[in-house]
Amino acid sequence: MAIKEEKKLYIETLGCAMNVRDSEHIIAELGDKENYVITSNLQEADLILVNTCSVREKPVSKLFSEIGKYNLQKKEGAKIGVCGCTASHLGKEIFRRAPYVNFVIGARNVSKISTAVNTEKFLSVDIDYDESDYAFGEYRNNLYKAYVNISIGCDKQCTYCIVPHTRGDEISIPSELIVKEAQKAAQKGAKEIFLLGQNVNNYGRRFSSSSHETMDFSDLLNRVSEIQEVERIRFTSPHPLHMDDKFLETFASNPKVCKSMHMPLQSGSTHILTQMKRGYTKEWFLNRALKLRAMIPDVSISTDIIVGFPGESEADFEETMDVIRQVKFEQIFAFKYSPRPLTKAAEFTNQVDVEIAAQRLERLQSLQDEILDEISERKRDKVYAVYIDELRNSGFLAGRTDNNALVQIKGDEELLGQTINIKITNPKRLSLYGERVL
Ligand code: SAH
Ligand code: SF4
Ligand code: F3S
Repeated sequence: MAIKEEKKLYIETLGCAMNVRDSEHIIAELGDKENYVITSNLQEADLILVNTCSVREKPVSKLFSEIGKYNLQKKEGAKIGVCGCTASHLGKEIFRRAPYVNFVIGARNVSKISTAVNTEKFLSVDIDYDESDYAFGEYRNNLYKAYVNISIGCDKQCTYCIVPHTRGDEISIPSELIVKEAQKAAQKGAKEIFLLGQNVNNYGRRFSSSSHETMDFSDLLNRVSEIQEVERIRFTSPHPLHMDDKFLETFASNPKVCKSMHMPLQSGSTHILTQMKRGYTKEWFLNRALKLRAMIPDVSISTDIIVGFPGESEADFEETMDVIRQVKFEQIFAFKYSPRPLTKAAEFTNQVDVEIAAQRLERLQSLQDEILDEISERKRDKVYAVYIDELRNSGFLAGRTDNNALVQIKGDEELLGQTINIKITNPKRLSLYGERVL
């Protein structure tokens, strides 16, 4: 086959870690099959891609403002493609609103990218398409920590969430493929493996074929930890409903599994949790979180919270604040509820006034700031083992402690990929600054 002329790809990724990994797959496919190389200069790009997110209204509006701007700035003849979750849910509506777009491919249709770039007005947004066994090429933004998908889609039907409508049903990726991919990344220098799925601790419920070995998420964690070169394992997102004792015990006892747990609370009110169809109560969530704190004194717990879900009263919101006070999360991703097309909650008639939601979000954030000040101040003068995985534009090297605190130091880029001891001299809310100690 004749070698194709080299072309340049500009890619913008919105949304979550799954989208980041999808973009890596796209870059690998286009590199291997179409001879594209990445550029950060929009004007020299032959192809401009936006990998989109739909989870709230904001990233959707961002898509249309971004591609409008790109269409004016692009070089003559350059193509524009839209992929990801908004591509899935808007489909051909994107061509209508932005007729200059050349192709639209949804999440879980990523393997069709090569066909898309070679076809006029290509559209493929099937959420039943099964890519769980597809062997994507190799490309990683960061050599030191590797994202590895363990499932696609999501089987839950949380009433506020569009993801099942953009990523389809949940299918677990065969463990042989996961282990092979983790092994390959680790041999190339990724001492940290980050396992990804919308619902990781539901792993193993369904595979694309019955010939695949079944195992649950705890067994998968243990299996990945047997890879010699892997030093750290992280994962996101687990679901609080599936945090049974076996899972918590594996998490606590496997030394390669980093001691930071994401526990997406969404709301502290059992009434609202029922309306959200989350499947757990406030008491179950607190029981799991406080058990983790008791089992692992150093554990860090992060969470996602939605404020102003339809019907949320002041008393419901206070239940959320109560969970925050009791658990003292190390990190909270909190957003105002955003009604999404195709979801049940968007039809609920008891929507909360946006002003009230904004005030609640502010109150939540100021409580969290107080908690964070206390947590970070406790780290002053302590020494942590930090795996350095990034050189930032600011010139600082950045890395994480085992329990996921972000630490930055001035230092030489030779330290990338190494675990070093750092004494915290300047703890800030969002990042700890320190000095290396030997
Ligand atoms: N599978 C993950 C969540 C993926 S979506 C889980 O269950 O935790 C990431 C986060 O976006 C969710 O945890 C939720 O807090 C937020 N989110 C989802 N839909 C939303 C909506 N309609 N409005 C506001 N936030 C939303
Ligand atoms: Fe959305 Fe719920 Fe699935 Fe998470 S578990 S992706 S919030 S439907
Ligand atoms: Fe992720 Fe956004 Fe899709 S959060 S799953 S990219 S809707």
